[in-house]
Amino acid sequence: MLRVLRGKWLSMGPEVQAFESEMSEFLGIKHAFAVSSGTAALHLAYLALGIGAGDEVIQPAINFAAAANTTVAVGATPVFADIVGLDEPTIDPDAVERLLSPRTRAVVVMHYAGYPGRLAQLTELCAHHGLALVEDACHAVGARYLDPSQRPPHGAQAGTVGDIGCFSFFSNKNMAMGEGGLVVTNRDDLAERLRLLRSHGMTTLTWDRHRGHAVGYDVVAHGYNYRLDELHAALGRCQLRKLPGNNARRQQLVAIYRQALSALEGWSIPFAHYPGESAFHLSVVVAPDTNTRDCAVRHLRSVGIQTSMHYPCIAGFSAFQRFATNEIDRARAFESRAITLPLFPTMTVDQVDETCRQLTLAARQSD
Ligand SMILES: Cc1ncc(COP(=O)(O)O)c(C=O)c1O
Repeated sequence: MLRVLRGKWLSMGPEVQAFESEMSEFLGIKHAFAVSSGTAALHLAYLALGIGAGDEVIQPAINFAAAANTTVAVGATPVFADIVGLDEPTIDPDAVERLLSPRTRAVVVMHYAGYPGRLAQLTELCAHHGLALVEDACHAVGARYLDPSQRPPHGAQAGTVGDIGCFSFFSNKNMAMGEGGLVVTNRDDLAERLRLLRSHGMTTLTWDRHRGHAVGYDVVAHGYNYRLDELHAALGRCQLRKLPGNNARRQQLVAIYRQALSALEGWSIPFAHYPGESAFHLSVVVAPDTNTRDCAVRHLRSVGIQTSMHYPCIAGFSAFQRFATNEIDRARAFESRAITLPLFPTMTVDQVDETCRQLTLAARQSD
């Protein structure tokens, strides 16, 4: 941080360049562009793919609102597909197949809680129908897809498989920078579009001109200011070094949660038999029914344990009700029974034990 402040160059300079090349090396991807947020990454992804009015983007019914809001922002229609099940709340490729229409242009997979979605099926489906695959990898930096039958993209890092991958470095993410994001691709044509659209369609940056690499610029596309500043990039470089250790710590804590809660009658923990390598972003449990879930949340709150909910179905939000046309029964069951328990790398084993003890008390009370 001090190095940046002393260097007096505050945006889109050497730290951003170093951050981008460290991220592309870490992910094993050809092009990585630092941006101001995960939402900016998603918006740029759709714009670079040329998605717009009249197009449909099939995406998970259970997701943060960003992928859907940016779909609407480019003039396209979000089509919400059901999840695989309560044990695997990521987009169901069979549901995607049923929702295909002549207007479908892209599919979004969101790697819920850090567990990569069904990438082998989704890449095959998209290739077969000529659709773009966008990965919302905002929960999944450092996760790896492992296919049970070793089909491609077996072994690939989350975010590097689709045409474009999007990451968020918001404060509550595994790699937290306050705000920030990354958009990645292996395709040179998309990379050029992403580079231009990130900064107003301008052919050169201030940093290029400062170094004498360019004298002027043209504006060749209608872009945005989705740039990242040097301070956030410097923070990102530190956070990237800590990421493997932090993800490993999350994994240990999730294992304790799983062990302690496995005996709770009627409760389940998603991804129990998951074959891949998660980034362990969230610790989510599914209650036997809504009433038990709500009692447990109230009890945990009364003893000072904060929970949250990832996520209510997007189609249930006021601004999205006009798109709520498909059957998403599993997503609706999930939203009415899931709880997100506390999970962060500095959490102690005692804190996890206490959370499990209190959840067990609450579950027994509502028996
Ligand atoms: C799954 C998912 N997608 C997209 C986003 C948007 O990222 P950001 O908050 O950086 O815009 C988030 C984060 O909040 C997210 O959790």
